[in-house]
Amino acid sequence: MGLNEASLKQNLAGKFIGHRFHYYESIGSTNEEAFRLGVQGAPEGTVLIAESQSAGKGRMQRVWYSPAGANIYTSIILRPTFETSRAPQISIAAGVAVAETIDHYCPGKARLKWPNDVLIGGKKVCGILAQMKMSVNAIDFVVVGIGINVNLSHQEFPLDIQEIATSLAVETDREISRLEVIISLYENMAKWYREIAQNGFDPIKEKWLNLSSMIGKTVSVMFREETVSGKAVDLDDDGSLIILTAGNETVKVSAGDATILKR
Ligand code: BTN
Repeated sequence: MGLNEASLKQNLAGKFIGHRFHYYESIGSTNEEAFRLGVQGAPEGTVLIAESQSAGKGRMQRVWYSPAGANIYTSIILRPTFETSRAPQISIAAGVAVAETIDHYCPGKARLKWPNDVLIGGKKVCGILAQMKMSVNAIDFVVVGIGINVNLSHQEFPLDIQEIATSLAVETDREISRLEVIISLYENMAKWYREIAQNGFDPIKEKWLNLSSMIGKTVSVMFREETVSGKAVDLDDDGSLIILTAGNETVKVSAGDATILKR
């Protein structure tokens, strides 16, 4: 079944994530629009799905390549009731949910790269951009934006990312149903979101650590002008990566671009 308003309606009815959905042939950015809907009071579990984005947003002010007809561009609105410091746990949950979804197509191959890239064979197949709105000292809502490269061929990626990005079709050598991927993604996300709300961070952290490609390796994390290097040892409850530097100092990094230096 193709990805369209009717097939989404039929398959997302009654689901905690996806029951309320907005489908766009074309949009600037699903995250921007989700933020706007969140401010207007859109209920938890509302999702936005676009066929293409003209201004898809990546982390660190980057652009997310968003051509029509091949990929998934979605944003999920959540309204967690836990403290603001735990908000990054939601993007960690999203990374695990995507990895689990992908595992069905490429068993055992999905890896997570801090903070929340999903890789297959070291190449990026999915990016996650979470944005939060706070009111006083509580989370008002979180927008979890997820872009998955599904049916793009190697040649269809722009030259500057051709060697560092991949898609499910490239990895499996067949066309993948975007509708099937979306249904499974929302189900996995709902499962892990409930898990962190009910049982705290430990279960998902364990799953994340198992899927991570960084723990135990020498990494370097760059943020603005600063670089921290050392052995990645753990993931903190606030989503930060814990690094043990050569000088035996433990440093927590909460944002940046990570590179594995030594395996
Ligand atoms: C990254 O830089 O890795 C994050 C990319 C996030 C892209 C998705 S696509 C759907 C949603 N809408 C956006 O504008 N960005 C996110």
